Amino acid sequence: MLMTTTTTSRRFPLRALAAASLLAACSGLAQAQAGDALKIGLILPMTGPFASTGKQIEAAARLWMAQNGTTIAGRKVELILKDDAGVADTTRRLAQELVVNDKVVALAGFGLTPLALAAAPLATQGKTPLVVMAAATSSITEASPFIVRTSFTLPTAAVAMADWAAKNKVRRVVSLVADYGPGIDAEKWFAERFAAGGGTVIDKLRTPMRSPDFSPVLQKTRDEKPDAVFVFLPSGQGSVFMKQFAERGLDKAGVKLIGTGDVTDDDLLADMGDVALGVVTAHHYSAAHNSPVNKKFVEAFQAANNKLRPNFMAVGGYDGMHILYKGLEATKGEGGQALLDAMKGQSFESPRGPVTIDPATREIVQDMHVRRVEKVGGVLFNVEFDAIKQMKDPAKAGK
Ligand code: PHB
Repeated sequence: MLMTTTTTSRRFPLRALAAASLLAACSGLAQAQAGDALKIGLILPMTGPFASTGKQIEAAARLWMAQNGTTIAGRKVELILKDDAGVADTTRRLAQELVVNDKVVALAGFGLTPLALAAAPLATQGKTPLVVMAAATSSITEASPFIVRTSFTLPTAAVAMADWAAKNKVRRVVSLVADYGPGIDAEKWFAERFAAGGGTVIDKLRTPMRSPDFSPVLQKTRDEKPDAVFVFLPSGQGSVFMKQFAERGLDKAGVKLIGTGDVTDDDLLADMGDVALGVVTAHHYSAAHNSPVNKKFVEAFQAANNKLRPNFMAVGGYDGMHILYKGLEATKGEGGQALLDAMKGQSFESPRGPVTIDPATREIVQDMHVRRVEKVGGVLFNVEFDAIKQMKDPAKAGK
């Protein structure tokens, strides 16, 4: 897997340096003082192939602040935004600078699994809470006891999709996933759950995380004539995939498309064209989620961002700011373990629906919706029609 891209010889001195400066940070000298601004270090891919994730999360975090003010316990809240361009070595360096130099009260963001994993040791060593707003490989929250997650996990979405498929006459499936943490989670949890429901995954195909070419795997899928192809691709790749799916004639050949909701991402869905109609996915957020809280959120987000439609990344960012604000209000601005404890167990109504931060696993507990792409007022949306209520990450059952 690509989570360890640097060589040991390069990493070791960097680690030693990080440990030394973090020791200084923990000694109290570098700890934020009462009266100082409460700084939140937001690390996101603002450039590069995953920049849409950064744009969505930044917009949502700024919306939260515009709606909820910038003062907590008499101190100013300051958002420090850093662009890691989706490169793990950069995330690690930025996280270290934010903890040691800026003395942030929390780290947040993390657009991809390798980026969250790169920052995890710094959260542990600096005793700095780290809110994962995007990355979704199940194991991330186990990489540091200071990590809390407001996005989702792939096992949760994959299991919800497998249950629906097994109950809806889908029998032979090819799975197609991005070849790294979240894709491997999706592949494994879909296949196991689908088999338990009587289905079979007849082939497991993977594409590279960056710049994938879908033609060979789509050709292979077409030749194998499955009932459906189950897809996980990271946010940002859905349109290219959908275009090639149509070009290869898979829709005409009667191969159904199912997946986790990342592939019919609200960020891109409106421009995907009719090939997306009828695609069924499982996910935790749809911009079409029918609740007054969501309607208000979508309206405010679009008004502040030139009509941009919020996607699941935006809601992860918005809820991440929510738990940070409520946590800091409860601790009167104290960070560290106190802030971590104040985020655990929070329950509230998010634009996605009711959520709780599971105090045992630090994962978000939420409804997983099954949705179908339909036109609403002439525009494509993920229309929710079924839900598994208050799902916990199945990969952490019994924890
Ligand atoms: C991840 O890298 O964990 C990730 C990225 C984009 C997604 C889902 C998961 O849409």
